[in-house]
Amino acid sequence: MFACAPGLPLPDGFLFGASTSAHQTEGGNTNSDWWQLEQHGAVAEPSGDAADSYHRWPVDIDLLAELGFTDYRFSIEWARIEPAPGCFSRAALAHYRRIVEYARERGMRPMVTLHHFTLPRWFAERGGWSAPDAVDRFARYVAATAPVIATDVEHVCTINEPNMVAALLPRVTAGGERPTGTGLPLPDPGLTRTLVEAHRAAVAAVRAISPTIRTGWSVASQGCQAVPGAEEVTAAYRHPREDVFLEAARQDDWIGVQAYTRTRIGPAGPLPVPEGAERTLTGWECYPDALGEALRHTAEVVGEVPIIVTENGIATADDRSRIAYTHRALDGLAEALADDLDIRGYFHWSALDTYEWGSFRPTFGLIAVEPETFLRVPKPSARWLGRIARSRTLPSAR
Ligand code: FCB
Repeated sequence: MFACAPGLPLPDGFLFGASTSAHQTEGGNTNSDWWQLEQHGAVAEPSGDAADSYHRWPVDIDLLAELGFTDYRFSIEWARIEPAPGCFSRAALAHYRRIVEYARERGMRPMVTLHHFTLPRWFAERGGWSAPDAVDRFARYVAATAPVIATDVEHVCTINEPNMVAALLPRVTAGGERPTGTGLPLPDPGLTRTLVEAHRAAVAAVRAISPTIRTGWSVASQGCQAVPGAEEVTAAYRHPREDVFLEAARQDDWIGVQAYTRTRIGPAGPLPVPEGAERTLTGWECYPDALGEALRHTAEVVGEVPIIVTENGIATADDRSRIAYTHRALDGLAEALADDLDIRGYFHWSALDTYEWGSFRPTFGLIAVEPETFLRVPKPSARWLGRIARSRTLPSAR
């Protein structure tokens, strides 16, 4: 399909995998705040059994390993591990520990995310991140995850997309929808400060569990692009929505980049998706150069901190578009590596078609999930990307 110039060999130890999150794949996450929102009709569709990965996780790991991936990013669910304040489930911890051990058996390195959007109901009911002891409660949960992460886990992500949490949590809990590419609401400054504090407390708790684990967090790139003359407006727009969270990572072991699309900014703020531009199933502009641009912006802000792409992908029903998008995104990655950016890994979002925060319609998966039987069917893109992972060489078409 693509005429490939000689590719770019990946640096030693480069992580090449796919990502998932607990609430989007496990199913039956009944003790979480999101489940409750879903039951109250705050979103179009409830998560229900999702992809039933709570039971079918060995199949997911087997498939990813067979496809050629060497790394698997997944999240563990606070609501299952601590179903009531201070009450920790040994069974849930053992469940996640089995996933870590099995991934290792299959030759895959697990990257564990501690918090990916969902909170225990009890935590949310006590005021969520606004409760005075929120950070301490989170740190106590992180300390309790020792049986899962103390060995065999080299990378831990404390909080997934804290900037989306700070901007969207107030809106989501009020029953609103996610924006579709015309700009992110302004994050709440108090929530921003609390999330940075929670991250620091989690990093300390993880280091106390094992000083060899490399900790970081993953920030959602806004892909901000200034139209001529709007450079200052763009910088002012981007700082509270992205850069403040990148700056907080300057002491971390790595920073996660999550890039999907762009936001063009004019003198009066974010502009709509350009007329006639191709859109994905989330309504976002199909813009694969977002990855290369996000890598460069992140490196400018964080300085020497190694970068890991923890999410990148496209919601589409046409798998050829997934390959084309990802191919171009990987070109951006290859160019950034060739320019000596310190990039240590690439995780595609998502391993599976998952519950996309309100709907099953936007399919990001490399592997399709049959909704009634939960049968997993790898798409051509899964085989294509798995071959790249196995070859340890990035294609280069430019
Ligand atoms: C990111 C989320 C992930 C998924 C992708 C499409 O914002 O981290 O859970 O929803 O977007």
